[in-house]
Amino acid sequence: MSHKDTGSGSSSTAPFLTDLHGRTIRSLRMSITDRCNLDCIYCHNEGYTGRGNEMSVDTIVNIVKVAHGLGIDRLKLSGGEPLLRKDLEDVLLRLPDMKDISLTTNATLIKGRALSLKEAGLDRVNISLDTLDPDKYRRITRSKRGTFDSVLDGIHEAVDAGLTPVKLNMVLLKDLNDNEIEDMLEFTRSYNGDVILQLIELMDFRDVPQHRINAWEVERSLLSVSSGVLVRELHKRKKYIINGAEVEFVRPIDNTEFCANCNRLRVTADGKLKPCLLVVNDLVDVSNAGEGELPDLFRLAVSKRVPFYKVSRSNKNGS
Ligand code: 5AD
Repeated sequence: MSHKDTGSGSSSTAPFLTDLHGRTIRSLRMSITDRCNLDCIYCHNEGYTGRGNEMSVDTIVNIVKVAHGLGIDRLKLSGGEPLLRKDLEDVLLRLPDMKDISLTTNATLIKGRALSLKEAGLDRVNISLDTLDPDKYRRITRSKRGTFDSVLDGIHEAVDAGLTPVKLNMVLLKDLNDNEIEDMLEFTRSYNGDVILQLIELMDFRDVPQHRINAWEVERSLLSVSSGVLVRELHKRKKYIINGAEVEFVRPIDNTEFCANCNRLRVTADGKLKPCLLVVNDLVDVSNAGEGELPDLFRLAVSKRVPFYKVSRSNKNGS
């Protein structure tokens, strides 16, 4: 890491980006394409449905370099499906040396590519996998037969290539996969620590209210079987240890703690800084900005960040 976080950094000359609510930005979540080869029934499309041009390799690299110079040391590349970009390795090879570079993928296209991604500088992957039942997988992702098997192969290959820990993103869907948590945990255990389960509360962007889960109930049942709980800095996410397997629960909805501890800035596939997943206005276009202009545009975007779920007297503990 090139800078030490002093927790300050609100002045415009400081290398760190801190918003008006005291949150220092340490991570960038960048979509590099809107295209996807799946069509998940719940997909939030990263909270953006704009239709500009996909960023070039140069644009992506410039944005990340400037972000890094401003104290952002973690990068997550996402999509759509980012592996649809054939030039992803070119991007990775040109990125600055950061603490953590990861990729969120559905893993259907990782076969034959995991090693070249690792060699180009990718540290690890998050793989979307909501179920271990091939029929349910087809229903959730609206994909064709056989896709599920390519994802399982993709997980194997990612582990073999050392893109670890591989985190499995499982969006909890009531009456669809919410009875599969234990099976998923067992699946991750078979990888002896190289695979971690990440449960995600459904954010209902697509009007599927029948699949909304009760996050409190999930948390209670995880707690009742866990031998320990850790809390991550990002979003104050909780990690439970259950019979030797690690499971993290990402619980954003109505969660003031989540927002109060959000240190992430997003970039849309067409090159706009986006202060929050859930906020659709307040985008800052950087798609044509020169390197010299970028720092001020970052500061502008960060100044627009407001916790979506705010702490108030009646809602102090994130309930
Ligand atoms: N709610 C929660 N998580 C979602 N994801 C996509 N759409 C939603 C949603 N509506 C997550 C999935 C996927 C990642 C790209 O985003 O976990 O792995």
